[in-house]
Amino acid sequence: MPMRQKSAKTETTKQHGSEIHAPKGKLGVMIPGMGAVATTFVAGVEAVRKGFAKPIGSLTQMGTIRLGKRTDARSPKVKEFVPLAGLNDLVFTGWDIFEDDMYTAAAKAGVLERELLDKVKPFLSSVKPRKAVFDHNYVKRIDGPNVKKGKTKMDLAEQVRADIREFKKSSGATRLITIWCGSTETFIEPTAAHQSVKAFEKALTQNDENIAPSMIYAYASLMEGVPFANGAPNLTVDIPAMHELARENQAPICGKDFKTGQTLLKTILAPGFKARMIGLNGWFSTNILGNRDGEVLDDPGSFKTKEESKLSVLEHILQPELYPELYGKFTHKVRINYYPPRGDNKEGWDSIDIFGWLGYPMQIKVDFLCRDSILAAPIVLDLVLFLDLAQRSAELRGLGIQEWLSFYFKSPMTAPGLYPEHDLFIQLMKLKNTLRHLQGEELITHLGLEYYD
Ligand SMILES: NC(=O)c1ccc[n+]([C@@H]2O[C@H](COP(=O)([O-])OP(=O)(O)OC[C@H]3O[C@@H](n4cnc5c(N)ncnc54)[C@H](O)[C@@H]3O)[C@@H](O)[C@H]2O)c1
Repeated sequence: MPMRQKSAKTETTKQHGSEIHAPKGKLGVMIPGMGAVATTFVAGVEAVRKGFAKPIGSLTQMGTIRLGKRTDARSPKVKEFVPLAGLNDLVFTGWDIFEDDMYTAAAKAGVLERELLDKVKPFLSSVKPRKAVFDHNYVKRIDGPNVKKGKTKMDLAEQVRADIREFKKSSGATRLITIWCGSTETFIEPTAAHQSVKAFEKALTQNDENIAPSMIYAYASLMEGVPFANGAPNLTVDIPAMHELARENQAPICGKDFKTGQTLLKTILAPGFKARMIGLNGWFSTNILGNRDGEVLDDPGSFKTKEESKLSVLEHILQPELYPELYGKFTHKVRINYYPPRGDNKEGWDSIDIFGWLGYPMQIKVDFLCRDSILAAPIVLDLVLFLDLAQRSAELRGLGIQEWLSFYFKSPMTAPGLYPEHDLFIQLMKLKNTLRHLQGEELITHLGLEYYD
């Protein structure tokens, strides 16, 4: 049978693949902030490697990707389709203001059961924190002894760069990734010091107060050519100086703020309301949580950083400027309450006031009894593996911001002037089409008229 010609009626468009280096050797994962999320991630990777558990929630490990037409029946696993590092090739290090190794820190975080932790104890205990770059003014509710000293912020950046080089050498890693799992820092806005690499470097030597500790890790990583992902809502790499450095040094960046519990549900529900032209009067979200993250967010400065990240989601998904009758004046409130008895097992309530045909009001209540770090850990894994893919890809490595990884973030970074995509399903399509594009497979448009010719 002759091959069907591609036409405007097909649901795919042909791509040409681009060069990607094979993931040879070990991949070093460097984590500023060895708290609940980081330890749940590392303990989980080891448990999966040892066959004690499954990597549930990870798209790179469990996901598939459809290729070609629906009639082709080609849906390989994502990790078989693109050349990702294997879990056995991951090696870890981290920084924290506390001296606990990963086993002790995981036990204190109280996310995973002691029985599981004990099975991976020798490995977890071997990951010890390096001295942190820390400034109490940026995270008011905590303080710890394991902190670097330096005359200027540039000196501190040099010390982090030395840590990075030391880890690369001692671990034998061929590639590195940094992923920020540290506390949420106080709210700051971009200033002149953030506008270019030159201004940023001058500010580092002058101890400018607008340079937060997370930015020092980011600067050190990018200077060493190491990609950087930001799991918190801090400004960190979302400033022109870091965009410039990332492009110059071909070190991909992405952020901000892992999309886990309540915001994940918001970005699943809100696109559904909009798809069916259902109106919104208000969305009230409240949370109780009792882990250290909750304690840090009890400080108004850190909460403001988180609030900004959580609030922007609905505006972008619902596009009130396009649908003023449906979304022109809804009220959106987000509250986080530190409540120690719950530990990491957060409870998030959403009270959603919607309206339908002829304006008749309806209500939806969501009560999500979630586990924050259980939702965050597979995101950390996927980001590590995908950022490593990006640094091995000739097409992606020089772009700086990796917008295709928006899927994982509450407040996705984009090129200046672009609004972020928040709709989880658009984000997933963007991610998978990026993988198809890299491998020269047809992009999926879901048109599909050809099946009815
Ligand atoms: N758990 C989730 O679902 C989730 C979702 C989105 C974002 N986050 C963000 O991820 C981050 C980690 O969350 P967590 O629950 O693991 O918090 P956590 O408090 O358990 O861990 C954070 C760790 O960072 C350390 N730290 C703070 N400042 C540091 C610095 N400058 N250098 C090195 N270490 C530093 C703290 O000592 C602490 O051990 C937080 O910013 C949180 O807001 C978490």
